[in-house]
Amino acid sequence: MKILGIETSCDETAAAVVEIEKRGPRPKIFILSNIVSSQISLHRKYGGVFPEIASRAHLENIIPVIKTCLKKAKTSLAEIDKLGVTTGPGLIGSLLVGVNTAKSIAYSTNKPIVPVNHLVGHIYSALPENVDFPVLALIVSGGHTLLVLMKNHGNFVTIGQTRDDAAGEAFDKVAAILGLSYPGGPSIEKEASLANSSFWFPRPMIRSSDFDFSFSGLKTAVLYFVKQNKDVRKINVRQAIARGFQEAVVEVLTEKTILAAKKHKAKSILLCGGVAANKTLRNSLKTEIKKRLPSIKFYPSPLSLTTDNAAMIAIAAYFIESNKKQWYDVFADANEKFTQNI
Ligand code: KG4
Ligand code: ZN
Repeated sequence: MKILGIETSCDETAAAVVEIEKRGPRPKIFILSNIVSSQISLHRKYGGVFPEIASRAHLENIIPVIKTCLKKAKTSLAEIDKLGVTTGPGLIGSLLVGVNTAKSIAYSTNKPIVPVNHLVGHIYSALPENVDFPVLALIVSGGHTLLVLMKNHGNFVTIGQTRDDAAGEAFDKVAAILGLSYPGGPSIEKEASLANSSFWFPRPMIRSSDFDFSFSGLKTAVLYFVKQNKDVRKINVRQAIARGFQEAVVEVLTEKTILAAKKHKAKSILLCGGVAANKTLRNSLKTEIKKRLPSIKFYPSPLSLTTDNAAMIAIAAYFIESNKKQWYDVFADANEKFTQNI
């Protein structure tokens, strides 16, 4: 079975073809092609994603990206069995480009579409074919920070989330405060790796009795620190701030994930979303899970699938294919929800 995935929820125009082989009890997943046309250079001068520019760029890129993706997968639309497309959450103008392209293809080739929530896509970027449930997923991206409990495929419950800024958003804003380039996550990670000391910053909500997060106060703490520190232009001071900020975020994310996994008796922990590319976060979770919860398996998303891509959407479309619809029943929803809250 071949699935064409399409993802345009934010600033990456992406298409992928995955092939699923169902010999034996477990499906085998092969990513035949995974094309991402990044718009980062278009948005850099604004310090964040400019929605109008994003949707126009998606319009220009979507057909060439799909053509390249089919060519690289050595396949054609005729050989595709179904489509998976991100329907939300995201920027509405951006989502509409991907959703309407998928609908046009589905209409003209008479194929079904599986609407995929973007965050469900992130979860499936890390989920192995033979995972043990219940699964606890830490989703950390530019727009979201969530702890999601998954009892089975397609069954998601939010057990914690950020009350203000997302983790990636905090990386982006702190990078801007430090004069580092957008996107902030990779810039902060690089500065932090060069530091030979670090400043201490607060760990917001680390001892709260729930599994919620808050990163806006941490960002403000960095802002005040920078305003009051005359040496901030010195490169080693900036590096120490980046490292201190990263340590604070990583410790909060690690601690809350461990506590949530214990409380909900998770058998597997997933780490996914753009911030999952951060090596300090990956190592911290790996080490603490091994030390404190040795029977739990840890699955960080492969580095190539952490930031937005369409392979994760196509893979999700396979696992939640009971949601499949005809083209006329598929709609973009900027605020689409995918979980129940407890
Ligand atoms: O998942 P994603 O590509 O887009 C959204 O769905 O939001 O995540 C993008 C976010 C940005 O905030 C970016 O700064 C952050 O992921 N990011 C990182 C790293 N690479 C990307 N944050 C920390 N460390 C990284 N290495
Ligand atoms: Zn994302």
